[in-house]
Amino acid sequence: MNQEIINEVREFVKRECEKPTSNYGHEPFEFHFKPAVKYAKELSEKLDADKEIVVISTWLHDIGSIIHGRENHHETGAEVAEEKLKELDYPEEKIELVKGCIKNHRSSIGNPRSTLEEKIVAEADALSCFDDIPGLFQVAFKYEDKDRKEGIESVKSKIQNQWESLHFEESREIIRPKYEAAMKILN
Ligand SMILES: [Fe+2]
Repeated sequence: MNQEIINEVREFVKRECEKPTSNYGHEPFEFHFKPAVKYAKELSEKLDADKEIVVISTWLHDIGSIIHGRENHHETGAEVAEEKLKELDYPEEKIELVKGCIKNHRSSIGNPRSTLEEKIVAEADALSCFDDIPGLFQVAFKYEDKDRKEGIESVKSKIQNQWESLHFEESREIIRPKYEAAMKILN
């Protein structure tokens, strides 16, 4: 793994999150990107994937959302990633693989995922929500203006949907204790 380039990419994402212009503020770095990368590494090892591609792609998967907003962030993110990685002299063929992971990470868009690495990035994205249940409540109360009861129902259904969306048995193994604990508390 090219740790130097991974560090550069992580610092780039951190800087973008910390800018006052960042959509969603600085918190996604700590509460979304970091846990997603943790799961990306774990799954890459378990599934014998190209860890470097997976880790770089996971750091960058939502960069479009941070810089340009949520709409089309899989497309804008792929463009930002290409520009940044070219600047870092990352090999062309690897840049293409990273762009594929970013373009196909959104389950709501439903692009087919052709490589193991693309599947892992999407999966790490889903798994990270189990590390950020306060963030799910923040969305419900702050951005969706829900009351307590509606907030609980909405968080429960998001967790349930993420659980059911998981593709790999390895992911379910990793996250089952958190899934069950969350459901126990919310029920
Ligand atoms: Fe994400």
